Amino acid sequence: MKEERIAISADHGGFGLKEDIKRFLKEDGYNCIDLGTDSEDSVDYPDYGVKIAHAILNGEVDRGILICGTGIGMSIVVNRFSGIRGALCHDVYTARMSREHNNSNVLILGGRVIGKGLAMEIVRTWIKTKFAGGRHQRRLDKIEEIIKR
Ligand code: RB5
Repeated sequence: MKEERIAISADHGGFGLKEDIKRFLKEDGYNCIDLGTDSEDSVDYPDYGVKIAHAILNGEVDRGILICGTGIGMSIVVNRFSGIRGALCHDVYTARMSREHNNSNVLILGGRVIGKGLAMEIVRTWIKTKFAGGRHQRRLDKIEEIIKR
């Protein structure tokens, strides 16, 4: 199994895509930790967004993937946490740049927005792309400084 631990979580709007991504990650040898939800029954997305933020900030996992209907609710929730850099991506270019420039540690997808094929390409790209560092790290440090004030 690969060393990196990736948590995944979704509300009912993202449940189906979560199951597909989980299967894909496990088949590819990733240590994928499923933090729910477990069905298409209606739940509240903040409860699941918070789980991913806490898992990363507590050091239980390295990165996370979050899915709701549009990805917007999850994006709003997870980006309230200092140290979390959530990127809502609906194309491969954005997913790549969110890693290279923003060092995103949470990938957010809209389960009702994109199809399975595109979602898998996005996940694959996001997982494999490395952070470029340098001037991009300075900008990320600035964000943390600004929100402390
Ligand atoms: C649930 O119906 C839907 O509101 C949720 O999945 C998400 O899209 C919210 O942003």
